[in-house]
This record gives sequence, structure tokens and C-alpha cells, in this order.
Amino acid sequence: SLPVENVQALASNNLKNVPSRYIRPEVEFDVVSVDESLQIPVIDMSKLDHDGEQEKLHLACKDWGFFQLVNHGIEDEVIEKMKMDTQEFFSLPLEEKMACAQIPNHIEGYGQAFVVSEDQKLDWGDMLFLLGQPVPTRNMRFWPTDPASFRASFDKYSIELHKVMIHLMKLLAKNLGIDPEMLASFFEEGIQGVRMNYYPPCAEASKVFGLAPHSDATGITLLIQVNEVEGLQIKRNEKWVPIKPKPGAIIVNIGDMLEIMSNGEYKSIEHRAVVSPGKERLSIAAFHNPKTGTQIGPLPDLVKTNKALYRNLTLEEFLRLKMTSKLDGKFMIKKMKL
Ligand code: SIN
Ligand code: FE2
Repeated sequence: SLPVENVQALASNNLKNVPSRYIRPEVEFDVVSVDESLQIPVIDMSKLDHDGEQEKLHLACKDWGFFQLVNHGIEDEVIEKMKMDTQEFFSLPLEEKMACAQIPNHIEGYGQAFVVSEDQKLDWGDMLFLLGQPVPTRNMRFWPTDPASFRASFDKYSIELHKVMIHLMKLLAKNLGIDPEMLASFFEEGIQGVRMNYYPPCAEASKVFGLAPHSDATGITLLIQVNEVEGLQIKRNEKWVPIKPKPGAIIVNIGDMLEIMSNGEYKSIEHRAVVSPGKERLSIAAFHNPKTGTQIGPLPDLVKTNKALYRNLTLEEFLRLKMTSKLDGKFMIKKMKL
């Protein structure tokens, strides 16, 4: 990524007008759904393995690409500590946060992602990006030491999310009619990247994006909202549907890689983050990718009788292409479609 201004510092100047690099004229023409009943499915993990809930999960992945997971089994304390330490990190003075700053051409650390040209529009937010799994990939130079409990909180959170993700993969495999152990084996040693997002309040909130519309490049994303400020919207039937996270729930979405591996059975849905005029917003997205060396393409068992709808790329090629492009809708899916 090219180095760009710290948005939290920029926002602290209380400017009436934000710099034009952040202004997105297209936001004004977007249709946001006002249908309050239109909400993503809620899946109860403690009921999975039962036919009714399994069927609901299958439909959630096929039809919505997004769902809220409740009763996921992660202790409240693990999530609460992660949230508190994330909030505390972002509230540190800029100089202290800069101890974790990204280095050129690196995604990890404190900074921004998907900035690839001098003239592109920018997102109204900063992030701290860390690898959580596999453990040997962890790059401690980017891990905050302030707050003092951050590293322990992050470690725990990373491990617990990984377990939930593996459990989910096995349930998804069952629904796809493929071997659960086979699908899980791609993800057991898979790469988990965790993106902690900080979106400052914005005087021109309705004209900027916290995160521009995109689909996630990953296998599966597990997201939590850190404070009470909502901002995630998903695209459904050409409208943007605001998501209302349930307390304690994890928002799960299918990423591009799983759409491709499932040969289109499951959908990676475009989504975006909007910001608030008066309040900061924080979220934590954990991206779960298959292990290094995996071929990203339709799984052989799913293209025995059906035609493959996507081409193959190695995980490395796939991620390189994603990371060197700006966020742009379902860009990777378009590239991979046959
Ligand atoms: C994301 O798309 O990963 C972030 C969404 C959010 O901040 O809610
Ligand atoms: Fe995303």
C-alpha cells in the first residue's frame, strides 16, 4: 500500500469539509433498504447438526452469503477483552500507535490497505492488521504492547475463532455433500488475518465510505462489532441492507474463495461500511484462508457432473492479485469466472 494520511488524526481537526480524496459522489445515488424486516438469517450453532438448523445454514450460505451466528460457544470474556483492548489501542496517541506502523509494501501493522494509486478515492478509516494463525506466521513487531493485555487477548481470540471456523467448515461441507475432513484440512493450517477497523466520526459522513463496496477475498470471514455504532451494509437485490448485529453474535460471511471452491453454490456478497457523523465506530474482521499452496478453484467433487464455473489460481497468486488492486465490488470473482 502507498502511505496515506492517518484518518483518526485527520478527523481530530474537526474539519467541516473533508478532503476531496475521501468524497464519493456515487454514495448519494445508492438505495438503502428501509425494510426493517429484511435481516440476514440467525443461525444457532448449538442447534447445528440438527436437520432444521443445518438446512437453514445451507440456505443462508446459498441465498444470503451472510448470517449471524449465536451460541457459538466462545466465552463472553474472550470477546469482551478483545474488544476492550482494541478500543484501548486505537485511543492511544498517534505516536504510540505508530510503534505498530506498517512498513512499505506490507499489509500487516497499523495503517491502510488497498491503496494502489495516487489518484484513487480513500476510505474513512484506519486499521491494525495482524496474522493470527498459523502461529509461526505471527509477526510480533506489529503486535501492540500497549495495552499490556493486548497480545494475550488477541492470542485467545485468534485461537477461539479458528475453532469456530473449523467447526463451521465441517458443517458447510456436509451441506455441500463433500467430505468434511477434506474441506477442514485446507483450513486447519490456514492463514487467519485479523483486521481491526477504526472509523472516526465524519462531518460529511453521508459522502464517504468507511470501507468501499467489496467482497472478501477469503474463505470465510468472522466479524464482530466493537461498540454500539452500526455501519455494515450488504448488497441484496440492488439495495444496501443495513445489518443490525445481535449482542454477542458473530457475523459470518462467505468469501470469494469459498464461492469459487463451492463452484458458485455459496455466494460471496458485496458489502461496505458507512460511518457516523458523531460517533467513532470499531469492528474486527477475521479472514480465514486455506493453507499456503492450496489451489483455489472448484473442488473436484463438485465438478464431476457439473461444469466448472471458475478457473484455478494458487492461493498466493490469488491473494497477490487482490492485495495489489483497489477495493472494487466483486473484482476477484469477475476475474475468476470462466
Ligand atoms: C469489512 O468489510 O471487513 C468491515 C465491515 C465492518 O466494519 O463492519
Ligand atoms: Fe469485508
